Parts: sequence; C-alpha cells; structure tokens
Amino acid sequence: MRGLSGQVGIVAGGGRGIGAATAKRLAEEGACVVIGDIMGDWAREVATEIEGAGGKAIGVDLDGTSPESQQAIVQAALDNYGTLDFYHSNLAGGTEGDIDALNCPLEVLDKSWAINAKSHFIATQAALPVMLERGGGAMIYTSSGAASGASPWQVAYPMTKNAIHALARHVASKWGKKGIRANVICPGVVLTEAVRIHMTEEQVEQALRRVPHERLGDPADIAAAIAFLASQDGAWVNGQVWHVNGGMQMRD
Ligand SMILES: NC(=O)c1ccc[n+]([C@@H]2O[C@H](COP(=O)([O-])OP(=O)(O)OC[C@H]3O[C@@H](n4cnc5c(N)ncnc54)[C@H](O)[C@@H]3O)[C@@H](O)[C@H]2O)c1
Repeated sequence: MRGLSGQVGIVAGGGRGIGAATAKRLAEEGACVVIGDIMGDWAREVATEIEGAGGKAIGVDLDGTSPESQQAIVQAALDNYGTLDFYHSNLAGGTEGDIDALNCPLEVLDKSWAINAKSHFIATQAALPVMLERGGGAMIYTSSGAASGASPWQVAYPMTKNAIHALARHVASKWGKKGIRANVICPGVVLTEAVRIHMTEEQVEQALRRVPHERLGDPADIAAAIAFLASQDGAWVNGQVWHVNGGMQMRD
C-alpha cells in the first residue's frame, strides 16, 4: 500500500484479535506502531513479535476509558517515533449482562458506553490536536455490524457502537479541510479468540450458513481494510462507515 512506510500510528486494543492483526499488517507495510491495551503484556508481546520479524513497534499499557492514559499513548508515539499519522481506535468490551432493553441493567449500559463509545471520543481528543498541528492524519474506528443490524439479544453494544459512526462523521466534516480523515470499519463475524470463546460451534455453523461467502472472517481481512484507510491509497475516503463482513449485511 502506498505511503505507509515510515508513518507512525497507534493501535488501541491491539493486544490480540483484530487489533493485533492490524498492528502486524501495518508494521509489514513499514509503519511504526504503538500498540496499547488494557492487557499491557499482550501489547508488549505483539510488539516483540513485530520487532522479531524486523518491524518497528512498542507495546504500552492503555486504559482507553482514561483521558490521562490516552494522552500517555499519544505521548509515547511522539517520544518514540516523533509524530502521529494515524490512530486506530479498536478496543471494545463490557458486554457481560447486555440483554434486551427491559432487562439490561443501567450499569451495563454505562459500562458499554464508557468502553465502546466514550473511549473513542477520548482517543479523538488526545490524538487530533497532534494531527492538526502536523497538518493532517487519519482516525480509524472499529464499530460492528451489530450497530446497523438488528440484535434482539443485546441492546447496549449496538447502541454504543452506533455512537462511533456519528463521532467519525463529526470529525470528518469538521476537520476534513485540515487534512483529517475519519472512517469506521464494521466487521462481520471474525473468528478472533474473543469470538471463539463466546460462540458455540453451532453458532459458528449458523453464521457460516448466513454469510454469502465460503468462510467467516479472519482478523487479517479487517487489518487489510484498516491499513488501506491509514495509507495514501485511502486518501479520498472520508466520513465513511465500511462493512467488511463477507457480504453478511449488504449496505449502500
Ligand atoms: N471479532 C468479531 O467478530 C467482531 C465483530 C464486530 C465487531 N468487532 C469489533 O472489532 C474490535 C476487535 O474485536 P476482537 O474480536 O479482536 O476483540 P478482542 O476482545 O480480541 O480485542 C479487544 C481488545 O481491546 C482490549 N481492551 C478492552 N478494553 C480496553 C480498555 N479499556 N483499554 C484498552 N484496551 C482495552 C482487550 O484487552 C482486547 O485486547 C472490537 O471493537 C469489536 O467490537 C469484532
């Protein structure tokens, strides 16, 4: 991909799954990657793997819900690599107890809001000033197909993921003239460790039957789309919500 070599980016929630695959892909493309995760050791392990393969990466502790922690990861990018070109805000969590609207406790909604929506806002507040100062940059947020599909079994996760779409469109429209691009990727069913733990074999089979494709998603499928959006090849993509899902939901 064009223009990723030598670029500096953050992958928040990059300790495993889609974030880890994205960090590896970005490093393969020549980017310097700062990987943050609430599980700091996972982030450092991914960075060690990247460095072992000849790439450039560091892993740091990150609590994405904390403004101080988000400021610290941006500072880590500046201290280690001198700038910040893109930020992939990928982390998610807090879905335990998330059921239908009559039974989902308020605490579960609040937790989902903090992790799945507010953290992306805080990331934006931490990263954007640096990008604006250097004349541009890319924010890439991970949402979910659940934000636009119907989910009778859960309410907080799709509600709070949806907020990311509005955030990205706000950032794209407010600062596009200043060289900022903001886009969202909505993965379909991607067989990460987290998904394998939560889905039974039967649910995996069901999902496979529903997708108009030979297989379910691999983290590398999402990593490729994110790398594109971070690269110069994605230079004219702004304010978009992209579904990368093997065709599970087909949308304009
Ligand atoms: N895998 C899928 O099928 C799928 C489908 C739709 C959307 N998504 C989205 O893609 C993203 C990645 O999914 P995944 O399957 O790789 O999940 P995952 O659980 O493997 O990865 C999420 C990472 O975020 C980290 N994290 C959680 N809370 C954090 C916090 N407060 N601060 C910092 N890090 C934190 C976790 O430790 C983990 O490493 C998520 O946003 C998820 O909602 C995934």
